[in-house]
Amino acid sequence: MYTLSEAQNLVEKHIQTVFIPDTPRELYEPVKYILSLGGKRIRPALVLLACDLYSGGVESALMPAIAIEMFHNFTLVHDDMMDRSDLRRGSPTVHKKYNENVAILSGDVMSIMASRLMNQAPGVVLNTVHDIFTRTAMQVCEGQQIDMNFEERLTVTEEEYLHMIEMKTAVLIAASLKIGAVLGGASQKDAEDLYEFGRNLGIAFQLQDDLLDTYGDPEKTGKKVGTDIVDNKKTFLMIKALDHADPVQKKELTGWLSRKDFEHEEKIEAVVSVFNDLKVKELTENKIGDFYDASLQKLKKLQREEDRKTELYSFASMLMERKK
Ligand code: IPE
Ligand code: IPE
Ligand code: MG
Ligand code: MG
Ligand code: MG
Repeated sequence: MYTLSEAQNLVEKHIQTVFIPDTPRELYEPVKYILSLGGKRIRPALVLLACDLYSGGVESALMPAIAIEMFHNFTLVHDDMMDRSDLRRGSPTVHKKYNENVAILSGDVMSIMASRLMNQAPGVVLNTVHDIFTRTAMQVCEGQQIDMNFEERLTVTEEEYLHMIEMKTAVLIAASLKIGAVLGGASQKDAEDLYEFGRNLGIAFQLQDDLLDTYGDPEKTGKKVGTDIVDNKKTFLMIKALDHADPVQKKELTGWLSRKDFEHEEKIEAVVSVFNDLKVKELTENKIGDFYDASLQKLKKLQREEDRKTELYSFASMLMERKK
């Protein structure tokens, strides 16, 4: 059995061995750049851990795991352009370091490389794995579009928000586990239960990401504080603040949401002050707890000895305590 850190080390080692052409330099250098900035590598680690749970090995899962990480990095490159973010993993984002056209095309090529890496899954499960992957990739794009649509809206319900983050974030975490399970030879039922574990954990993960965007330490997250507020993102924090605001607070929030010209710092400070008064941090933490608990229930259902699930349990608790 692999431990989480062993799985992460294996991913790190193998990511270095993926062939990335040298020319055109403008296309491939950003690919090498974003991959070299690290990141937590949680999705590929999940592919390996899920596979190991059934096959007692990870060999067949290595390339699919790297494929998922490559796809994830593609989404980050395009996401940073869409979100007008300057900083990623503590370094300049690809469109800032190079330019927007480079970020578009390098992102595109990463998405295609991801598909080619996924093609290296063993023949017997290739169709199944590729189908899960492409379906999930489409859902991520759908979630990203909905996320941007919400920037233009004043009201978004909690239900709409949860659907959006399920698509943009949770399904990729869920699919990582399911793909690993299929590669390891799990029963269909277990593969589905692992997917559900990941889906709930992934929702908790994105809620946590929203929380860290406002309340995190930029030294740890490697991102700027308050980007979501500047972008008018309908995060769980903003939705709850709008839900609970009194008329004066509501006017303050909607004023900032409709203003076109403003100082970033001034808007962030004003909105955070309303968030603090309404205790939206606590409300978000409670919601994270609900989805975390739901994820553990799914993990419990899995038809495997409890002691074989240890790494997945500690993985989940590690994610909930993360500061980056
Ligand atoms: C960031 O993902 C994008 C979200 C889905 C919130 P991660 O937090 O996994 O980013 P890295 O790969 O560790 O940098
Ligand atoms: C990103 O969500 C989800 C995807 C990249 C698909 P965010 O926009 O919140 O991620 P960060 O905060 O920029 O990492
Ligand atoms: Mg985004
Ligand atoms: Mg973003
Ligand atoms: Mg975020």
